[in-house]
This record gives sequence, C-alpha cells and structure tokens, in this order.
Amino acid sequence: MPAHIAVIMDGNGRWAEARGLPRMMGHRAGVEALKTTLRFCSDLGIGALTVYAFSTENWSRPQDEVNFLMALFERVLQRELEALQQEKVRINFLGGLEVLPERLRELIKEATKLTAGNSGIHFNVCTNYGGRRELVLAAQKLAERSVKGELDPSVIDENIFAAELFTASEVDPDLLIRTSGERRISNFLLWQLAYAEIYVTDALWPDFDSSELLQALIDYQSRCRRFGGLEPITSDHLGS
Ligand code: FPP
Repeated sequence: MPAHIAVIMDGNGRWAEARGLPRMMGHRAGVEALKTTLRFCSDLGIGALTVYAFSTENWSRPQDEVNFLMALFERVLQRELEALQQEKVRINFLGGLEVLPERLRELIKEATKLTAGNSGIHFNVCTNYGGRRELVLAAQKLAERSVKGELDPSVIDENIFAAELFTASEVDPDLLIRTSGERRISNFLLWQLAYAEIYVTDALWPDFDSSELLQALIDYQSRCRRFGGLEPITSDHLGS
C-alpha cells in the first residue's frame, strides 16, 4: 500500500461541459470526488493524501472562475471542518497562502490549528502552489541562512534542502494519480515526485470514485519499484 498518494484532480471543466453545465458545476462535483477519495484513503490506512487544488498558473483563468473556486474552498472548509476533525484528519494547505482572500486565510489557519494534533491521515491541499516556486523559495531560505552565517553552503544536502519545502514533514509520495488522461506533471511536487509511480486514468475527476482508486492501487501493486537500482525494493528495504 502506498504511504502517500498525490493527486492531480483534472477534468472538472470537461465533465461539466459534457453535460451542458457551467464549468463551476464540475468543480462542485469535484469536491464530492475529493471527499470520497479522502475517506477511502483514510479507511485504507494510507498515511497522506496530497491534492493539487489550485496552481500558481490557475490565476490566469477567467476572474469569475477564480472567484468561484476561492468561495468554494471557503464553503467546503467551513462545512467539512467538523467531519474532518471527527475523522481525525490532519489538514494542511501548501503553497503561497499569503495572497489568498482574507476569509479563506482565516479558515485555513483555524482548520490547520484545530486538526494539528490529529492522528489520522495527513490531508495536504496545494493551493496557489507551484513546484518551481517551492524550489526557488527553498533556495532563498537556505541562501539567507548562509549569508547570516548560520549554514555552511557545503553541508547542504538533499535532507537539508527537503526540510525547506512545504512538505518538510511528509514522506515523498509513492503514487501520483492524474485524471482525465493528461500525461503531465504540470509543476506539481517536482522534487517530491522523483521516484513516484505515475498512474493516469481517462476518468474525469468528478467521476473518480472508490473503484477508480482501487484500480489505481492494484496497478501500483503490480509495479516493480527499483529506485534506480536493479533489485526491486521490497517493504523490508523500506522498513514498513
Ligand atoms: C481541474 O479541473 C480542477 C481544478 C483546477 C480545481 C480542483 C478543485 C476542487 C476539486 C475543489 C477542491 C476543494 C477543496 C476544499 C480542496 P479543470 O478545471 O482544469 O478541468 P478541465 O481540464 O476539464 O478544464
């Protein structure tokens, strides 16, 4: 079983357009698919689920769609917070949160604080997230520490670098799922996905349900993970 699953939730717009509905309805239906996926991952004992909710590039969408998405995030967070807490989910938002609408930032702060001590699945919502930006920010933070004399540049290794990423406390995703048939990483978790198995399904995100997730997991279990070596890596090597 993967310890950490990352998901690019793609195809909300196409799902709605195929039904003659406004794109926004696709995002609404996408929330239901996300709830199902989170619950199923939690039930299966998967440690972390990280989803791409809004990229740094998504600001270039029509203003009414951006506004709708921000309002949707607020509504969903408000409405689902109690259930998340009951189900022991630990929620975190990863990305440039400082530019999000104030009300959303407040809700994010509240939800993060409330659920911080929860023992269940880690649910990471990438919002105003860009992989390249995350790497640049990490480099900036390390450079600042070096300039201040706190860090010798020659000791910077992969662990020190990874500790500056938004995902500092998570293991890397074992599995990346992308819906709607696109075969791109789209600036998502560029560092963290180095050794992830990639699973692409033609299903549009609102149609992604527990049977789709099971298919992804079965496919993952058939993969031979070698991490650049020759021998398949087994759970003995990973200590889990
Ligand atoms: C991609 O489909 C989807 C998004 C950009 C938004 C995803 C957001 C949600 C599912 C809501 C999540 C809510 C919370 C609170 C985390 P698309 O619009 O790119 O679809 P298209 O490629 O068919 O146009």
